[in-house]
Amino acid sequence: MPPADVTSAAHAASPHGLRAVQRVALAGPAARQEIEDGLLAPQARISPKYFYDRRGSELFEAITRLPEYYLTRTERALMRAHGRAIAGAVGLGRVVIEPGAGSCDKARTLCRRLAATHFVGVDISADFLQGAVLRLRAALPALDARAVAGDITAGLQLPADIPPERRLVFYPGSSIGNFDPADALALLARMRALAGPGGGLLIGIDLPKDRAVLEAAYDDAAGVTAAFNRNVLAHVNRLIGSDFDPCRWQHRAFFNWAASRVEMHLEARGPQRVRWPGGGRDFASGECIHTENSYKHSLPAFEALLAKAGFCRCQSWTDARGWYAVLHARA
Ligand SMILES: C[S@@+](CC[C@H](N)C(=O)[O-])C[C@H]1O[C@@H](n2cnc3c(N)ncnc32)[C@H](O)[C@@H]1O
Repeated sequence: MPPADVTSAAHAASPHGLRAVQRVALAGPAARQEIEDGLLAPQARISPKYFYDRRGSELFEAITRLPEYYLTRTERALMRAHGRAIAGAVGLGRVVIEPGAGSCDKARTLCRRLAATHFVGVDISADFLQGAVLRLRAALPALDARAVAGDITAGLQLPADIPPERRLVFYPGSSIGNFDPADALALLARMRALAGPGGGLLIGIDLPKDRAVLEAAYDDAAGVTAAFNRNVLAHVNRLIGSDFDPCRWQHRAFFNWAASRVEMHLEARGPQRVRWPGGGRDFASGECIHTENSYKHSLPAFEALLAKAGFCRCQSWTDARGWYAVLHARA
């Protein structure tokens, strides 16, 4: 299958009638190189951004409905309970920009409450995002909603006619936890630049908590997270032409207390030889591929990170159990 390919046609009208779909190369030679380098590293790794082909996006949506996955439910409840205060802090009539927008479900509620004028969803899972933005446009016809297919780790570029004023970068879902502290800082600094003077950031973070609660959220009884983790191998097979057999890899998730992060790995069930055009690797039984980190930041530590990235006047809302926080900060 060809790469999720996607030419450079910023602002072109899509067949679905989206006003602007910026298409960028999501899976060209650079992605291939990144994946191969990761697979050949002493501790093999695959970036979590490769979880998200269409199937990966659908599996993530299924995860958000699992009883063990408290994150989405808690964040939604917080945004509902404190909706008025959040809108007061953020201000009305905003241009909402959501990196990693996924289903755009949270954006729909937020844009309605803020009477947002524009919405730009950016996501690596291009087809899934297009469907989501179409549904958003149907639900909120007055909103100028756009889809931008892109990798936010490679930069954050918006269509040229998105107003530079009154911007709110919306980054829910605790997605910032997928980045090591240095990369999280760099991404927050890019978000601050994107928000511009007078803009802001509304972000959700998952807080440290009991190990059993954390580990269950990333290793549910129904095996949906295991399927999500293994799906990365099917996606990688399509991207680099490798011959991973996902069934021969076991999902592992555990809380690394010292690093304050949940780690997900895929562990070889027996010795395996994996090949791709021009390369390959032998894996011993029990050897792991590291596929995701989810850092759990404390509120003070995260506020300090926001300040370092150039944000100020931070306000936060947490649930009664102290499991999750939504923060607003000014650029
Ligand atoms: C954990 S989900 C969160 C989705 C949604 N924002 C929410 O809160 O429910 C992460 C989303 O970010 C997208 N994503 C992951 N890595 C990305 C990257 N490097 N560039 C753009 N989008 C990315 C995924 O496709 C997915 O839709």
